Amino acid sequence: MAELRVPLIAGNWKMNLDHLQSIAFVQKLAWALKDAGYQEKQVEVAVFPPFTDLRSVQTLIGADDLPLALGGQDLSVHDDGAHTGDVSGVFLKALDCRYVIVGHSERRSDHHESDDVVAGKALAAVRNGLVPIVCVGETAEDLEQFGPSKVPLDQLAVVLDQLKSSDDYVVAYEPVWAIGSGQAATPDQAETVARALRAAIQDKHGADAAARTRILYGGSVKSGNIAGFMKRENVDGALVGGASLDVAEFSAIVRFPAHVTMDS
Ligand code: 13P
Repeated sequence: MAELRVPLIAGNWKMNLDHLQSIAFVQKLAWALKDAGYQEKQVEVAVFPPFTDLRSVQTLIGADDLPLALGGQDLSVHDDGAHTGDVSGVFLKALDCRYVIVGHSERRSDHHESDDVVAGKALAAVRNGLVPIVCVGETAEDLEQFGPSKVPLDQLAVVLDQLKSSDDYVVAYEPVWAIGSGQAATPDQAETVARALRAAIQDKHGADAAARTRILYGGSVKSGNIAGFMKRENVDGALVGGASLDVAEFSAIVRFPAHVTMDS
């Protein structure tokens, strides 16, 4: 991580916790962060509940002025109209979402989302004043066939073609083989790909965009391995799945500055 970029720790709850459970969870998380002396200026924390929880979590964050950003797990390429089951970026913005995840590998595989669809979603996010977290990552087969950076770079290129250099976006490198497997990438592997992604941003959108855009690592991140990632120059945070559903574990990940100098 570099000084000029505020690290982002993002909890992607996936399809877990209903709206009642989400309220209890966010209350506990807020207490845990407060107890730990969490400083909003040092690390930004965002949660990505299921759509049905967003209003409940928004209300809680607003009522208690909690230091948490809210995000959606997906959005439609369209802003309104006859698109049954889809959720508009307009609606996410109205719920005070700051972020929205686009192109998660589970959307790409479960819903056959192509790079073009992902780019359309990133564009819909930006159009509605949301910051897209653009997920890219290779499968184990891709890794064997093409090495680490090719697939993530190809996926990102399609999105960068659609965005402008002034747009605010985050990139999440999530190797598919590391998601939910308990086998995280090594900090070296994450840094290699993050560096290549930043170089691609620089080529397409210039040095300013490359310097300010945050690149996250995701895939089996835990409190025990976060420090290793955060020590690397081009990794600016984490997109956390399973460990974001455990208050103690997630708040320990957020507290990484306290143990970033320890061996990990
Ligand atoms: P895990 O942290 O459970 O591996 O999930 C990562 C992920 O997919 C976050 O979006």
